[in-house]
Amino acid sequence: MEYFVKSGNPEKQRVACVIVGVFDRRNPTESAETIDKASDGLLGSIMRRGDMDGKLGRSLILHNVSGVFCDRVLLVGLGKERDFDEAAYRKVHQTAARALRNTGAIDAVSYLSHLPVKGRDYQWNVLQAALATEAEFYRFDEMRGDKAREEIVSPKLERLTFDVPRRSDLPAGEKGLQEAQAIARGVSLTKRLANLPGNVCTPTFLAQSALDLGKKYGFAVKILEESDMAILGMGALLSVSRGSREPAKLIVMEYLKGTPGDAPIALVGKGLTFDAGGISIKPSAKMDEMKFDMCGGASVIGTFAALAELQLPINVVGVVVSSENMPDGAASKPGDIVTSMAGITIEVLNTDAEGRLILCDALTYTERTYDPRVCIDMATLTGACVVALGAHASGLFSNQSGLARQLLTAGDQIGDRAWELPLWNDYDSQIKSEFADVANIATVGAGEAGAIIGATFLHRFTKKMKWAHLDIAGTAWHGKAATGRPVPLLTQYLINVAAKRGDD
Ligand code: BES
Ligand code: MN
Ligand code: ZN
Repeated sequence: MEYFVKSGNPEKQRVACVIVGVFDRRNPTESAETIDKASDGLLGSIMRRGDMDGKLGRSLILHNVSGVFCDRVLLVGLGKERDFDEAAYRKVHQTAARALRNTGAIDAVSYLSHLPVKGRDYQWNVLQAALATEAEFYRFDEMRGDKAREEIVSPKLERLTFDVPRRSDLPAGEKGLQEAQAIARGVSLTKRLANLPGNVCTPTFLAQSALDLGKKYGFAVKILEESDMAILGMGALLSVSRGSREPAKLIVMEYLKGTPGDAPIALVGKGLTFDAGGISIKPSAKMDEMKFDMCGGASVIGTFAALAELQLPINVVGVVVSSENMPDGAASKPGDIVTSMAGITIEVLNTDAEGRLILCDALTYTERTYDPRVCIDMATLTGACVVALGAHASGLFSNQSGLARQLLTAGDQIGDRAWELPLWNDYDSQIKSEFADVANIATVGAGEAGAIIGATFLHRFTKKMKWAHLDIAGTAWHGKAATGRPVPLLTQYLINVAAKRGDD
């Protein structure tokens, strides 16, 4: 779909559909009032008949409205005016997009982008409107058979314009639109990689996807094979991969459009393409969802797509550590001790706590290769994080309060929130091992604070960097569908860094 930003009168739009909002208790917005006047009070009479009450989430399509140039008017309920907040703003755009999907309209102009949201401007309004619309239009159908795919009715809409009140608001709106389109591109790539099944999206497939992306946008991508990992001493990563027939890959992307020689921002993602748990095998219920255990890696790749679309003038490196975690005769056994690239020995007491094993070597590699100005990893690391925060916020951990604050702010701005959890030293003694330098699960207070224990383990390997960890186990997918999070958060963070260099 093509998007535009314009400023014009609702009754004069020569398009298939004009979209206006109505608050609860039949309180019309200015644009709705304009249509009402032009149509001799049609909207008022429809509301009096009770066909549109203005409740949030409601919509009604009107045909053959007199006095206007458009074919249809889409009325969207906005809820109570005093409750109208960021979430309501997104919801009305989602509702409008859902209603539009089911019409024959090929173009539309939305006046919902006028709606004032406290503390936000028209850049934010247009950005959020476009992101909400893109999310509503996303479908994942590529794994259906040819016949089923032919029968899919795709939406007719080709052009959607977000209106802004004044011509002077156009530059802000345009900026928001451009950012939204870049973010949406990244989100949909991440969703696709995540939604693909484990037998298609293997470590090799992820590596190829990164290579393709690098070629498309002109940034460097290199792939480290298991033989390279062995030379580097990545014993923790290789121990996870050992039980799988699919070779592990360490995918490294270098987007260097900033000042040459400036230390890069590093993004590191867990790309576990299927987590069966290994010898500590998972129960069968919902095990299919463990194809999503590569969402951290997919988010790094998606963020690179957004970054390259935006052409941000910064240096960023992406490291996706990708493997399967399977049980087999060669797989690690509980009690095995492995040596990480950092030289720290790890007692693998539970082979299902594999994310931290592959990440610790990726983090050491990142630190030694790039000496980054900040390092942010993201991983579907713990079921405990889902228990703690549910689907609404990613868990955030950081050894640097400034970095934590910047990530929290970026998440609030874009509507992809994180919530900070502690990394206090108190937890560190809970991962002591009887035999090795560290255990991969808690040996003291087992079962308590699982998300923090996972982060605490990673922290053993990141002491020399300004580092943050996002546990996205609850946010990366919902039900059976990938969300593309935290691509919006990360992209907004990078946009902010590019706008204000040196603030970290
Ligand atoms: N990939 C899982 C975490 C996960 C579980 C994410 C469910 C989303 C939903 C991770 O590898 C894992 O298995 N973690 C274990 C750690 C435990 C053994 C300490 C967990 O959370 O149960
Ligand atoms: Mn696991
Ligand atoms: Zn896992």
